[in-house]
Amino acid sequence: MSKIELYHGDCIELMQSLKPKSIDLIFADPPYNLSGNGFLTTQNGKVAKLHKGDWDIIEDIHLFNENWISQCIRVLADTGTLWISGTLHNHPSVGVILKKLGLWIINDVIWFKPNATPLLSTNRLAPSTELIWVASKSKKYYFDYTMAKIINDGKQMKNMWVINAEKHKTIHPTEKPEKLLERILLIASKEGDAILDPFMGSGTTGVVAKRLNRNFIGYEISKEYFDIANVRIGIVQPIKELITAIEKEQNRNDKQYALVMEKKGKYKSPKKKVS
Ligand SMILES: C[S@@+](CC[C@H](N)C(=O)[O-])C[C@H]1O[C@@H](n2cnc3c(N)ncnc32)[C@H](O)[C@@H]1O
Repeated sequence: MSKIELYHGDCIELMQSLKPKSIDLIFADPPYNLSGNGFLTTQNGKVAKLHKGDWDIIEDIHLFNENWISQCIRVLADTGTLWISGTLHNHPSVGVILKKLGLWIINDVIWFKPNATPLLSTNRLAPSTELIWVASKSKKYYFDYTMAKIINDGKQMKNMWVINAEKHKTIHPTEKPEKLLERILLIASKEGDAILDPFMGSGTTGVVAKRLNRNFIGYEISKEYFDIANVRIGIVQPIKELITAIEKEQNRNDKQYALVMEKKGKYKSPKKKVS
């Protein structure tokens, strides 16, 4: 049975209580700092200012990134890997800090979303990708090449991943697809490993970690999102047969989750558009 620990609070403070080198895999989906810049998007078919939440407005994004990444490096095992997702709004900063702090950059995974939201402006290309930095402290890190091949129908996996944005299961504006996290956890960790998500949001990493029999520690600064993640992770059942069972189990959990959240008035109607 996996051990699940969820904490409400600031990850930079909370990570200080973790033992050095105690974590096997970190997936971090930090604030991208794209809100508050006057960018436009669509909401319920209407033009609206892009605002993910106040948590997405960071005064000194470089200092913020350096502070939390430093803590991640302290708690990451020598064989562990750190995965950080972002868009052009924060990935240059993250890349510079990874180099500055002496990390070994293994890959830049390009997550391509074929169903990305169309762009309203006519002065640029429509954004349809996110970049995920993959880094480690040493060159001897855990990486399951065989598993990557199995997931990719027997072929060597490349660093461009074509995964549709999924319908959100919660009201969180930047919920990641479970399929994306499944791929990362299957390739970069084993059953029983310790997984950390410092910015857990709606709890996607925790859902997948529990389902795949990994231990999980998650931090979230917003009480509302923390409660959502707590419920969502709480109802997940671990699975025994990997990969083939994933989709079946996911559907079952989605229905259970929808019922609980509907009662709490927090379930996002499937009719709404994916951001
Ligand atoms: C990009 S979202 C993560 C979404 C998540 N991957 C998911 O699938 O739902 C970032 C989250 O980090 C939280 N956050 C921002 N600053 C934080 C901090 N200092 N400590 C912990 N959580 C923080 C925000 O409230 C937000 O929910």
